[in-house]
Amino acid sequence: MTALARTLSGFDVNAVRAQFPILSRQVHGKPLVYLDSAASAQKPEAVINALGDVWRGSYANVHRGLHTLANEATEAFEATRGKLAAFLGAARSEEIVLTRGTTEAINLVASGIGLDLKEGDEIILSQMEHHSNIVPWHFLRERKGVVIKWVPVTDEGALDIEGYRAIFTPRTKMVALTHMSNVLGTLNDARALTEIAHRHGVPILLDGSQAAVHGPVDVAAIGCDFYAITGHKLYGPNATGALYAKGDWLERLPAFMGGGEMISEVSEDAVVYAAPPHKFEAGTPAIADVIALGTALDWMGAHATPEAIAHEHALMQTATDGLQAMDGIRILGTVPGKGPMVSFVVENAHAHDIAQLMDRYGLAVRAGHHCAHPLMKRFGVTASVRASFAVYNTADDVDAFLDALRRAREFLI
Ligand code: ALA
Repeated sequence: MTALARTLSGFDVNAVRAQFPILSRQVHGKPLVYLDSAASAQKPEAVINALGDVWRGSYANVHRGLHTLANEATEAFEATRGKLAAFLGAARSEEIVLTRGTTEAINLVASGIGLDLKEGDEIILSQMEHHSNIVPWHFLRERKGVVIKWVPVTDEGALDIEGYRAIFTPRTKMVALTHMSNVLGTLNDARALTEIAHRHGVPILLDGSQAAVHGPVDVAAIGCDFYAITGHKLYGPNATGALYAKGDWLERLPAFMGGGEMISEVSEDAVVYAAPPHKFEAGTPAIADVIALGTALDWMGAHATPEAIAHEHALMQTATDGLQAMDGIRILGTVPGKGPMVSFVVENAHAHDIAQLMDRYGLAVRAGHHCAHPLMKRFGVTASVRASFAVYNTADDVDAFLDALRRAREFLI
């Protein structure tokens, strides 16, 4: 750990880093340098322990039992809903549906909204969406004849706001946009995007998979109708997440999946659904994982402080400066105020080869299309390398990244 003591902003990264056991392992005989947190963040001891504590000490099914364990598990499970409401700035915990992540949250909204859509109705997405905010809407294109319209992305990687304003028509029924691009890091002006949609009387969903990790979200201030997040990027367990739905949206949307938990009564010829949000939570949920997501949110409250977020940005800036000093590197996404990730293309080298060679030096970076095919097409590339930074990364990680990249290039040339 001593070699990793150097920090850029006075933030005590080592105290944070020490809480992530995986970061002390080696890969190919080299210290692991994990720069793939935008794909999935590593987990602190507190979250790992929370899972074990539930299973060891207070595990039972939720919302069903009358015994002590069932009550304890239900209370802890519902506490996460309250923490999610506070984390997102929602007015009430009843506005939070617990989902398996952003993907399920968006599918829930798309399938519900889609029931009322007719052939020729329009949905607005942008070229910088990742596939979880594209494919659920393609279902409506295929099944209902809905038309998807795309907000263009500028060469710098910004949303073209004039282009956004211009594509609304009387047939626009829904807007679904990312709050932060998972490739470019671009942080969109959620409030402005929402105001424009609402001026046209159109609801808006924001995909907060990346933005919620790197700064406070306040859905009340944004004013959006829906906001989707995923737990595994928030230092929490996989297959957890949430949908925020404003006001009476959850009353208006139809149930999504059918099963136990989401009903109040079932007969041979009728179903009475449970009140929202439970109407959208069919089956036994990921009980321990959801409780541990609550722990992850507590952990973020204590450790993903403004200083920690500034630290992530400083690392990204140093990495970007290092990349810009090299020949033959094209950075995708240069909008000021972007999130802490940098995607780039290396001249005469495939992103996969670069990432595999960097892995030999202990570096974990993502390479490929980043689940964002339309964006890759927009920039005329099939793949890029992405380094993404989290609160546990260090200045030494950035040095190791630049060094491994140089070596990978030397090997390929
Ligand atoms: N959408 C995730 C990423 O950006 C998986 O890598």
